[in-house]
Amino acid sequence: MSPLWRTSALVFLAILLSPHALTAAQLTPAGIAYTPQVSACPSGTSLVRSTGMTHQNLSQGEEGYVSSRQAKVLPAAWSTYLANVEHSAAQQHTSLPAYVKEVLSCAGDRPTLGIATSGGGHRAAFFGAGVLNALDGRNATSVGAGTGGLLQTASYLSGLSGGSWLLTSLVQAGFPTIPSLIFGLNAGGANSFGGFLTQFDLFQVSNNTIVENEFLETLLGEVSGKAAEGFHVTIADVWARTLSRHFVNGTTAANFLDPNFTHGAGETFSSLVNLPIFQAHQIPFPIVIGDTLSTHENDSTIVTGDEVPLSNPIYEFNVFEFGSFDPMLASFIPMSMLGSHGATCVTGFDQTAFVAGVSSNLWSEFNTSAAALQASEIGPIIDVINATFPQSGIRLDSAIVPNPFVGVAPTTYLDSSETQIALVDGGIDGQVIPIQPLLVKARDVDVIVAIDASADTEDNFTDGASLIATQDRVNLFPTAYSFPPVPATAAGFTAANLTKRPTFFGCNTSTSAPLLIYIANGGAPLGQVPQTNVSTFTDTFSASTIQGFLDQTFDIATQGIAVGDEKDPEWPVCLACAVVDRARARKGVDRSGACVGCLQRYCAS
Ligand SMILES: *[C@@H]1O[C@H](CO)[C@@H](O)[C@H](O)[C@H]1NC(C)=O
Ligand SMILES: *[C@@H]1O[C@H](CO)[C@@H](O)[C@H](O)[C@H]1NC(C)=O
Ligand SMILES: *[C@@H]1O[C@H](CO)[C@@H](O)[C@H](O)[C@H]1NC(C)=O
Ligand SMILES: *[C@@H]1O[C@H](CO)[C@@H](O)[C@H](O)[C@H]1NC(C)=O
Ligand SMILES: *[C@@H]1O[C@H](CO)[C@@H](O)[C@H](O)[C@H]1NC(C)=O
Ligand SMILES: *[C@@H]1O[C@H](CO)[C@@H](O)[C@H](O)[C@H]1NC(C)=O
Ligand SMILES: *[C@@H]1O[C@H](CO)[C@@H](O)[C@H](O)[C@H]1NC(C)=O
Ligand SMILES: *[C@@H]1O[C@H](CO)[C@@H](O)[C@H](O)[C@H]1NC(C)=O
Ligand SMILES: *[C@@H]1O[C@H](CO)[C@@H](O)[C@H](O)[C@H]1NC(C)=O
Ligand SMILES: *[C@@H]1O[C@H](CO)[C@@H](O)[C@H](O)[C@H]1NC(C)=O
Ligand SMILES: *[C@@H]1O[C@H](CO)[C@@H](O)[C@H](O)[C@H]1NC(C)=O
Ligand SMILES: *[C@@H]1O[C@H](CO)[C@@H](O)[C@H](O)[C@H]1NC(C)=O
Repeated sequence: MSPLWRTSALVFLAILLSPHALTAAQLTPAGIAYTPQVSACPSGTSLVRSTGMTHQNLSQGEEGYVSSRQAKVLPAAWSTYLANVEHSAAQQHTSLPAYVKEVLSCAGDRPTLGIATSGGGHRAAFFGAGVLNALDGRNATSVGAGTGGLLQTASYLSGLSGGSWLLTSLVQAGFPTIPSLIFGLNAGGANSFGGFLTQFDLFQVSNNTIVENEFLETLLGEVSGKAAEGFHVTIADVWARTLSRHFVNGTTAANFLDPNFTHGAGETFSSLVNLPIFQAHQIPFPIVIGDTLSTHENDSTIVTGDEVPLSNPIYEFNVFEFGSFDPMLASFIPMSMLGSHGATCVTGFDQTAFVAGVSSNLWSEFNTSAAALQASEIGPIIDVINATFPQSGIRLDSAIVPNPFVGVAPTTYLDSSETQIALVDGGIDGQVIPIQPLLVKARDVDVIVAIDASADTEDNFTDGASLIATQDRVNLFPTAYSFPPVPATAAGFTAANLTKRPTFFGCNTSTSAPLLIYIANGGAPLGQVPQTNVSTFTDTFSASTIQGFLDQTFDIATQGIAVGDEKDPEWPVCLACAVVDRARARKGVDRSGACVGCLQRYCAS
């Protein structure tokens, strides 16, 4: 975002400040489609599902989806991946030990893989995309590198913030290849996917004040139907409507500024279960997370420099449900009913762009004081929201969702008596990689590929802080979650170069925790000029900049422990060794062959 936005928003403020300027009669097609529908709940029904506090169970929808995928789709995916690794190994005159092949070929032995892709704005969306591309069996270069095909074997894919932009856009567009996702499908049709459209900034779409004001006015108008229906609207709703133009079907460069298109409004996250690829169990089960701010929280568990305490519940959005597996809440409602409260049933609230907007709502970070918020880039838009939709008793810097869990777990759930919950960016408790959903024991995840593009250092690279925060949080919930040991400090990561090359955690430790394959944006690969460390707030990119970013990420994901500017020829084999290692242990087989050396080299715990 550029400071120019502030200037034009202030001009906009002057134009718009008539509280009745936006009435339901003036709703655009997007405004109509963004408005949730309200009805009385059928009497005697409860929307809330309890998962149990220590041995959480899954929804029927998820259970059915993942087991069908594992039975019908993954056997072929694993054998394709195995063939790719073997082909690459043969070219490097190395080979996989027999047990890797046995584990991947045998029903009941195969590992359960989850991939988590971090926050960090467009930087994270591109870095995550670049790593997924390097693991994608549809990309011949990735197949040639011996890493392609692993993406197709995943049971789960989680994303938060910038990673949720990648995840939601990818899923709702029908899981196209990464270049076609980012640069657009050119499939034609008003409701197809037009690409990330990074020639437009997220808020500052034009330097022409009139055009810019009209754009912001359009966004405000699009949330006014939701307000008129009695829901709170905040910065997160306006944010959702601009994100929708980049990460949801229905926008092209040509119609970008035209207010008469729906621009993705009305597309709900729960409706993605109807996509043919979902019906055919062709994609990993997608999960997005958000954090929460509460007046009842225990601030002594805030990681220094972050905003949300680690002891607060983490909320999960999946296509079937919304809620939290954390033991103090351990409850869900159907995703399609998000926004419901008491005896009021709501649909159409769970819009795909709103889910991504919640997960990337880092605006609350600007609110260290009323004056700081006012002086920040969102100060003017907060003022307009406040003036246009007068509301009291809520935060305008967060996403406000009616609390469906009133009265649930009153002794352990901090917001049990609150009628609204305030949701914010999934990474602002310091855990920028969405690992928590993959630690839920009922999901039985054996191995996690953790993609980390957090900007921790002065030059916007990663220093391992996110994994440290996850380790700290797991220590607060020892019966619910297990996590392999990671260094206690960022210095521990940097001293051993753990962010500069792929690192495995948990090789030598308890197998009750998943094994972690950590791929971080810790520095440029192979002596190249850095291109992957752009600021979290950079939102416009040319196609050639994006291509350079993706190509460099491809090298980061395929270099292994490089020697000079030579990639480790054994890296694809080592990756496969890590992927199967928990499944190997389950079979009671010892590591052998190339895997012994691989795990010595790549494991940090
Ligand atoms: C899930 O756990 C809850 C709470 O323990 C229990 O009431 C419910 O029966 C369980 N459901 C299944 C399918 O096991
Ligand atoms: C989005 O558009 C793509 C084509 O560009 C299509 O395959 C996909 O089904 C659409 N998704 C939704 C949710 O309509
Ligand atoms: C606005 O002006 C700045 C500075 O001249 C330029 O870098 C930027 O590309 C312009 N933005 C748009 C959307 O035209
Ligand atoms: C959008 O529709 C309105 C009402 O039909 C019309 O006045 C306006 O010119 C249209 N805007 C564009 C950009 O086509
Ligand atoms: C807040 O968290 C700290 C650190 O985990 C803990 O020692 C303390 O008991 C908690 N306070 C309350 C009121 O729960
Ligand atoms: C919203 O407007 C009211 C009335 O002018 C004012 O008292 C309040 O401080 C404003 N709130 C914010 C968050 O700006
Ligand atoms: C800023 O944060 C405070 C709590 O620290 C909250 O009460 C207030 O509503 C927030 N302001 C806005 C505009 O959300
Ligand atoms: C990217 O990293 C290089 C090397 O450390 C540094 O010179 C540059 O300033 C960084 N760029 C950003 C935007 O942080
Ligand atoms: C970390 O990387 C640097 C630069 O490649 C190298 O000089 C150093 O020996 C490495 N340190 C360790 C502990 O591997
Ligand atoms: C990232 O890059 C931006 C722009 O160069 C810079 O202002 C910022 O300080 C850098 N570091 C972090 C941690 O954001
Ligand atoms: C495969 O990945 C490479 C490396 O990023 C990229 O240049 C190429 O466009 C991709 N090809 C396809 C078909 O996706
Ligand atoms: C793991 O155990 C092996 C075999 O005992 C040992 O060689 C290796 O150094 C250990 N690695 C770590 C990181 O503890």
